[in-house]
Amino acid sequence: MTDAIQIALRGVTHAYKTDSGPLPVLRDLNIEIPEGEFCAVVGPSGCGKSTLTRLIAGLMRADQGDVILHGEKVKGPKNTVGMAFQNPVLLEWRTILDNVLLPLEIVPTKLNKAERRDRARSLLKLVGLEGFEDKRPSELSGGMRQRASLCRAIVHKPEVLIMDEPFGALDAFTREDLWQTMHNLREEEPFTCLLITHDLRESIFLADEVVVLSGRPATAQYKLRVTFEGKRKLDDLYTQKATDMLAILRHQIEIAQGRAPADDAEAAA
Ligand SMILES: Nc1ncnc2c1ncn2[C@@H]1O[C@H](COP(=O)(O)OP(=O)(O)O)[C@@H](O)[C@H]1O
Ligand SMILES: [Mg+2]
Repeated sequence: MTDAIQIALRGVTHAYKTDSGPLPVLRDLNIEIPEGEFCAVVGPSGCGKSTLTRLIAGLMRADQGDVILHGEKVKGPKNTVGMAFQNPVLLEWRTILDNVLLPLEIVPTKLNKAERRDRARSLLKLVGLEGFEDKRPSELSGGMRQRASLCRAIVHKPEVLIMDEPFGALDAFTREDLWQTMHNLREEEPFTCLLITHDLRESIFLADEVVVLSGRPATAQYKLRVTFEGKRKLDDLYTQKATDMLAILRHQIEIAQGRAPADDAEAAA
């Protein structure tokens, strides 16, 4: 039954130890992401979203509860997970192609050198970076660097991709282009996705489910199924359905920020 669940957080509770005592960050957090699904997590600034990504990536352990990846408890970093961050952190002394190849130098692979380069090149082509393979990161725009970093995050074919506000620093048009790129990438090679974002439009354009976290210590305050039909297109964001979903999410964020009273009727946690 549970083997179709790719990422599961069960009763995850965590506090950071600080000089002024424990800082509770996550409280009884439950999230399940089925294989191949895209889950977006939104919530107030400082509520624990990046903490959540670090727990799933195995970079730290929760005080209580379980983080389960492909049916197994997470005990440390795994190479079945790819990660992308707001800052693309590409290595300036390497070309774009060599940056994308980096995980294949670290993660065991059956591919030989030529096959690895072919794989990296085909990903770069898919995200529109054909012809830029030999450039250095500083020669590319912010949007192009983020495209390259997405290629690097999935070049070793991870089963799960975790992204922490990857499009946050980009201008609105570049961001929308990258949303389309995300869809294209997933059409080409399906993987399970967890996206942290503060952009509600981005969340409904990309995700199958949007989880709204409460204020700190964060728990799953509300879960919204996104029900656009067929292949997503930007026009979907200008439909009544989108407006309604965005209104619900905005209201839930206000509740999470303590700026609107909780309406307990729909709380989904
Ligand atoms: N290593 C740490 N030690 C102590 N406090 C931390 C640490 N990392 C994050 N925090 C605090 O925990 C809270 C949640 O942080 P974070 O998960 O980064 O929030 P978000 O990504 O939602 O903005 C914040 O108040 C932050 O200051
Ligand atoms: Mg963060």
